[in-house]
Amino acid sequence: MIFDTHAHYDDDAFDSDRDELLASMKENGISHIVNVGANIATTRNTIKLTEQYPFIYGAVGVHPSDSAELDEEKLAWIKSVAVLPKIVAVGEIGLDYYWDEPERDIQKKWFIKQLEVAREVKKPVIIHSRDAANDTYEIMREHKAEEIGGIVHCYSYTKEMAQRFLEMDFYFGIGGVVTFKNSKKLKEAVEYIPLEKIVLETDCPYLSPEPNRGKRNSSLNLSYVADAIATLKGISREEVERVTFENALKVYRLNA
Ligand code: NI
Repeated sequence: MIFDTHAHYDDDAFDSDRDELLASMKENGISHIVNVGANIATTRNTIKLTEQYPFIYGAVGVHPSDSAELDEEKLAWIKSVAVLPKIVAVGEIGLDYYWDEPERDIQKKWFIKQLEVAREVKKPVIIHSRDAANDTYEIMREHKAEEIGGIVHCYSYTKEMAQRFLEMDFYFGIGGVVTFKNSKKLKEAVEYIPLEKIVLETDCPYLSPEPNRGKRNSSLNLSYVADAIATLKGISREEVERVTFENALKVYRLNA
């Protein structure tokens, strides 16, 4: 069984065949999916998906690139929905200096406030961090993220940086990028990170793995990601699927 720990099935890219596609997951070995909110609207859509599908869980939160829409009232709403039983995490939250908007102080402010929401509701976080390794790490350290726990999603930093997140006992979301020919740095990090700290994720509709790179992604492609990790670690795909499945249950505090 495969656990997709990070997906965006509310995206327009799935409007034409969402129900059909999601109905095919079980027979293709995908047993659990966490749909992740990136702003207030997609968080609402995420909650709806968790109500419609027994195997879909949700994460509620606002992505750094959308953090300018937040205010105290919206933050209070996020906290109020974060306690719903099928909501397993606060996310995706963090820092994005690649797009670098809104200004960094705004991104930092709402990253910290959403970390504190996660602490208060006792749920883990899903961290989005792009070109912002040091600031992300510093904020997590200052705010004792090791007490909150969670996943560094779409991990894209070095193995040295991975060591620092491992010290905080975080998990690493690994997806399609690990299959790309030019992803040498990530491949080194994946070789280094213990399998017990890796979870599979699609970030679909984005980041489709080889051989489907560039096409719309879905959880059905995760076997390619598991294959790539298995090759890097010199183990079987079945072992990667089994251990990452257990890891996902553990980080999201779910029973199979
Ligand atoms: Ni995402």
